[in-house]
Amino acid sequence: MIVCLCHRVSDRDIHRAVADGTHNFEHLQDRTRVASNCGNCLDCAQMVFEEACADHGVGAAPAACAGGCGGCARGAAATAPAPWVPVARQAA
Ligand code: FES
Repeated sequence: MIVCLCHRVSDRDIHRAVADGTHNFEHLQDRTRVASNCGNCLDCAQMVFEEACADHGVGAAPAACAGGCGGCARGAAATAPAPWVPVARQAA
């Protein structure tokens, strides 16, 4: 079954992505581009994704990633310490 008409993403594609280790809906979108154009497929895509996670025995990570856990590239970037920048001396 085609889930996303815009990007021709099928339920099989979603199951395959989950089997290959994609356990976050945003990562699924990065990988397949599902629900990233018109958005009409979003509800169906999320439902198929959750079913796929259940079928593969993994819990789906929250769809909305706050980026603070460090568990992915986005989170790692968010939790990385800011580079040290010297404060410019003020003229007396
Ligand atoms: S049908 Fe999936 S983004 Fe349009």
